[in-house]
Amino acid sequence: MSRPPYRLAFCPRREAERTLSDPAELRARFGPAELAELEALPERRKLDRVAGRLAAKRALAAHFLGEYGWEADAAELAVFNDATGRPRLTLPKGAPAPAPSFSISHCAQGGAAAVASPGRRVGVDIETIVARPAKVIAFVATPEELASGPYDDAGAQARLWTGKEATLKMLGLGLDADARCVRLEADGVILTDRPAQAWSALGSPSVHLDYDGADGAQIAVAYTGDDHHG
Ligand SMILES: CC(C)(COP(=O)(O)OP(=O)(O)OC[C@H]1O[C@@H](n2cnc3c(N)ncnc32)[C@H](O)[C@@H]1OP(=O)(O)O)[C@@H](O)C(=O)NCCC(=O)NCCS
Repeated sequence: MSRPPYRLAFCPRREAERTLSDPAELRARFGPAELAELEALPERRKLDRVAGRLAAKRALAAHFLGEYGWEADAAELAVFNDATGRPRLTLPKGAPAPAPSFSISHCAQGGAAAVASPGRRVGVDIETIVARPAKVIAFVATPEELASGPYDDAGAQARLWTGKEATLKMLGLGLDADARCVRLEADGVILTDRPAQAWSALGSPSVHLDYDGADGAQIAVAYTGDDHHG
């Protein structure tokens, strides 16, 4: 089977805890500006930050090695957030490769990150698999999805939730996006309103969704097809 057009990495919570408690490990993986940002975060957000960033640096290093033969150090792959919260990669001067599309997510089990192959876009979401109240599902599901349910088991709910979040992140949309504007179908997604506008600004590429799991958490990866060249 051919490999998917993205690289996915997972950093388990215990690895993030170990790294966070070891200053030498932290310095080996994060640049000075990243460490300063980490230090300024409230304590409760530090573990998520480290788990997501370690997963991102692992997926980014695998991408650069696989696509360009470049052995990048974790600490020189500096990740910051833009004004919308979207992660951005700062590469060292003279880096032999351009920054790819990538995405980060975290939950209680750890951090996940996906990096798209050149010319594609990617979004990732990881969520703990836990039963959600019907009214929460009704808030994010479209009428068509509710009709095709039932979403009464935690696994189906987690796939619905992560599939939508991964698609919104792939489109670069944050907190103000409406999950009901992303309808999951067997062979892709149907988008309306702002997600549809963001998608058409990309040239209306095909959108694909893959599902995976790690340490009992649900992962979804949304990515554009090879018809996307933005
Ligand atoms: C804000 C949002 C990115 C979600 O975050 P979340 O589920 O709380 O947290 P996650 O751990 O999955 O993702 C957080 C990461 O998303 C990334 N992110 C934030 N804003 C983003 C944006 N505009 N575009 C792409 N990625 C973004 C960041 O890398 C962030 O991690 P970091 O701050 O450590 O770098 C966004 O998807 C959201 O809240 N959408 C709301 C839509 C909705 O109603 N969803 C309901 C469930 S379907």
